[in-house]
Amino acid sequence: MTIEEMKARFAELFGDAEGVQSYFSPGRVNLIGEHTDYNGGHVFPCALTIGTYAVARKRTDDKLRFYSANVEKYGIVECSVKDIKYNDKYGWANYPIGVVWALQKKGHLFDTGFDMLIWGDIPNGSGLSSSASLEVLTGVVVRDLFGFNGLTNQDLALTGQYSENNFNGMNCGIMDQFAVAMGKKDNAIFLDTADLSYEYAPVKLPDAKIVIVNSKVKHSLVDSEYNKRREECAHALKQLQTVVNINALGDLDEATFEKHASVITDETERKRAKHAVYENQRTIRAVAELKKNHIEEFGKLMNASHVSLRDDYATSCEECDVLAELAWSVPGCLGSRITGGGFGGCTVSIVKDEALDAFKETITKGYEEKVGKTPEIYVVEIGDGARKL
Ligand code: GLA
Repeated sequence: MTIEEMKARFAELFGDAEGVQSYFSPGRVNLIGEHTDYNGGHVFPCALTIGTYAVARKRTDDKLRFYSANVEKYGIVECSVKDIKYNDKYGWANYPIGVVWALQKKGHLFDTGFDMLIWGDIPNGSGLSSSASLEVLTGVVVRDLFGFNGLTNQDLALTGQYSENNFNGMNCGIMDQFAVAMGKKDNAIFLDTADLSYEYAPVKLPDAKIVIVNSKVKHSLVDSEYNKRREECAHALKQLQTVVNINALGDLDEATFEKHASVITDETERKRAKHAVYENQRTIRAVAELKKNHIEEFGKLMNASHVSLRDDYATSCEECDVLAELAWSVPGCLGSRITGGGFGGCTVSIVKDEALDAFKETITKGYEEKVGKTPEIYVVEIGDGARKL
């Protein structure tokens, strides 16, 4: 849908499109550093050129009205800016509503409500952060419409995470919202989640592409399994803290972890902690390799990340294991791993230009044979963060 088409739809639904402004917020893909962001470790995501668009306008009364051109069955979702509560029947709109709620909690006054129509091209439930995209998008819209000019994009990322944790009940870390809000064209973000210090690292792939493959599966219980991993890591950390002075699992290198690992009494929790520690170190190493243009080394670390997520962290799934193994079998695929929260969603791979066709064919045929589904394959580009258009 183009912005003009969105404005036309806005006019149909909300009377006219006078004074309507437009906005964009990207999706993200994480290249490496998975399940490290709530363990005080490093992540390395980038914003994509696909994302979520909004056209919006302030109202004169206190109504908030939302419409998604992707999930039209919800119709116009409406509530009052003076009485915001989570409601199952709001469906997708609980994300933007949650952001308004979070901003109010932080002391921002809404003198009126607003109308917002969205449309996006991030495949839903694919692990490319359609929810973070929508949260930060709402922040950008509201900042502009209500003149909350003191809010930086980083503030909007934190607001999005706060509302997702406290309004939507998903205890996510900061990675997704940060990547979406702070993205920069052709760069990934090397973010230290311990203190939110970050650095942009150019992703120069002169003869290769970033390829995302959508498994088109999303296993249920994603949120509860995710929250469970967080608890397992927190418990392992508590036990480690009885013998070593650390704030987070991200403070440990592999050798120090191995020296003290036996203090973690539960074997499952030991594996979870091991992943968090090793994955963080892998991420630091991967970025160092990328800076030296050692893309092949970077790719090998991506593969190791997948194995660790599969075996130690148990957030992969059969379908994504099939996708990763098929990718590894293609000469010219430098690295491949499941990306995002897990239990379905997408893999991310780095594929040489000359191997792209073979990659697509092997993945499509192999996945159809082994899983009985046709995967979706996107050759993606790294784009800028959320903004007014
Ligand atoms: C989800 C969460 C992120 C992060 C990833 C795993 O995408 O929203 O905060 O924890 O999972 O790396």
